[in-house]
Amino acid sequence: MLKEHFLISGLAGKKKLTGTVSIPGAKNAALKAMAASILFKDEVNITNVPNIEDVSRTADLLTELGAKVALRGHSCRIATNDIHSTDLASEISKRLRASIVFAGPLMGRFGKVSFPHPGGCVIGERPIDLFLEGFQKMGAKLSVENEGERTRYMLRVTGKKLRGTELFFRIQSVTGTETFMMAGVLADGETIIKNAALEPEITALAQFLNACGARIEGAGTTTICVKGGGLLSSRGGKFEIPPDRIDAGSFLILAALAGKDMEITNCNPAHLESLIDLLRSSGSAVSVGKNYLRVRDIPGMKNKKPHAINVKTHEYPGFPTDLQAPLVVYLSQAAGESMVFETIFEGRLNYTESLRRMGADIVMMDPHRVIVKGPTALSGKDLESPDLRAGLAFVIAAVIAKGDSVIHNVYNIDRGYERIEERLRAIGVSIERVSILD
Ligand code: EPU
Repeated sequence: MLKEHFLISGLAGKKKLTGTVSIPGAKNAALKAMAASILFKDEVNITNVPNIEDVSRTADLLTELGAKVALRGHSCRIATNDIHSTDLASEISKRLRASIVFAGPLMGRFGKVSFPHPGGCVIGERPIDLFLEGFQKMGAKLSVENEGERTRYMLRVTGKKLRGTELFFRIQSVTGTETFMMAGVLADGETIIKNAALEPEITALAQFLNACGARIEGAGTTTICVKGGGLLSSRGGKFEIPPDRIDAGSFLILAALAGKDMEITNCNPAHLESLIDLLRSSGSAVSVGKNYLRVRDIPGMKNKKPHAINVKTHEYPGFPTDLQAPLVVYLSQAAGESMVFETIFEGRLNYTESLRRMGADIVMMDPHRVIVKGPTALSGKDLESPDLRAGLAFVIAAVIAKGDSVIHNVYNIDRGYERIEERLRAIGVSIERVSILD
């Protein structure tokens, strides 16, 4: 088996990075657009698709169902008329949380689906109760098969089609909102989702589906109303995936920590208001253009360190949980005591133990809260990337640390960040990918 790690030589706190970083399409928009192809009677053309592992796995998942997928560079063409199965492959689904959204279009089009408990990053318990309850309210019958440790959920529509209904989400869920928005497109009557999530990827998906014949109202607000109809048609049009706000935000944090003059281009700063406001409030200067962000280490303010600030993760437009780990690295360099409250996932602060080994002063109060005291110099270490976002936080920590770091389990980073070492090298980071045959 091929094992890969990153070897990074740190800058020992110096602000040296210069140049431009271009932001690829959003992972969490691309995966849903690919699943949405099941709602179409003709071929779907998706552009600005990021070149990442999770996109390849989603393509595999579609192919196993019988879809024709042509993934070339940043474009992806999908035809779903030959789908012959509605059983999601176990191995892929168990690694990919986004696999759950396939249930929406598959239930809408074929009235049945089976899937294992979906996997994805290990960031806490990731229940699927909203999905199972929602489909049952829309007229599906649920059966669960337990084979040893393997659980497989089977949903089947009892009538002819899914029935539109009103769903109230106890908790705002991104994939939940997307799943039922897609299910509603082919359901009978009206599907109303209350306490829907507001993430921009949801709005982008709704706009695309509406351009192809869907009737979705209210995406981007907490009440979404979908009027059911027939299969959609792309009529040769294409869906351009919006820029990845988490990728852009991660580079912005890196720029605030180690940038001499860095520009982040092809991004949408309007999707990053919470981060930009937080960085500015803690003393970092960020310039904002229509589709770029810039951080410069202004002469005369050279030794200015950011100061501590409290952060609470929140559904969009609040501070995203996916930027919490990189932000903790930033706060380790901020003067004073910051409290970080992770409200969405309960296992998403465990990585802080590794930052402590690098020299950060972080005290865990409970699984949801840490106190970060700064500034502390970090030193290079051997680190295991536990999940996608914490993995990238380790890369940022390694870049600002003194000495060399090795980051293992690079696959976790490749899942969501395109050509990360190439883009980092272009702005002056000393990073190498080392492959070892194990
Ligand atoms: N929840 C339930 N029951 C459910 C579904 C969710 O209790 O049936 C809870 C979750 O446990 C969590 C909260 O609802 O406490 C919100 O979770 P949500 O469903 O919104 O998360 P998700 O849809 O599984 C997506 C992104 C995550 C991102 C979160 C929050 C995808 C594929 N994943 O996950 O992205 O952290 O929204 O913004 O869109 C990542 O990209 O690294 C990543 C983990």
